[in-house]
Amino acid sequence: MLDKKVVELLNQQVNKELYSAYLYLDFSNYYYDEGLEGFGNWYKIQAQEERDHAMLFVQYLQNNGEKVVLEAIDKPAVKIVGPKEVLDEGLKHEQYVTSLIHAIYDAAYTVKDFRTMQFLDWFVKEQGEEETNAEGLIKKFELFGGDPKSLYMLDNELGARVYSAPSLTL
Ligand code: FEO
Repeated sequence: MLDKKVVELLNQQVNKELYSAYLYLDFSNYYYDEGLEGFGNWYKIQAQEERDHAMLFVQYLQNNGEKVVLEAIDKPAVKIVGPKEVLDEGLKHEQYVTSLIHAIYDAAYTVKDFRTMQFLDWFVKEQGEEETNAEGLIKKFELFGGDPKSLYMLDNELGARVYSAPSLTL
């Protein structure tokens, strides 16, 4: 049996990760509509990764005999105004998700739930990588987004991203 508060937060995180998938699918659709298919591909894969994250939280709850409670997923709340702004929103969202993971970690730490802390270690590292990736995209767009030829090449680069399953198995 896990602590009640920890279980509540883990369940909420299932919803938050699915929301992230939904948000990034919205970003992906925007880029496809704009003809930036590489960016669209990048965010479509990002959406797949977020769904994987949700499933890892589901699996962890089930492995510990806890009930998974699914709530409604909000409509993507970000107003899309341009290709660069989407990247900014992506970074902001990842920073928010990092704060959520840290809050669960904090709750687990408070009740000496070492098992959940160990489970979350992967997510702490993953969030660091996701923030770095989001910052990298912004930087590249700032450098190359203003020139059509360079933007075309950047879009091609992002189009080469392929999906790979998460390295964490439970
Ligand atoms: Fe599941 Fe991008 O954090």
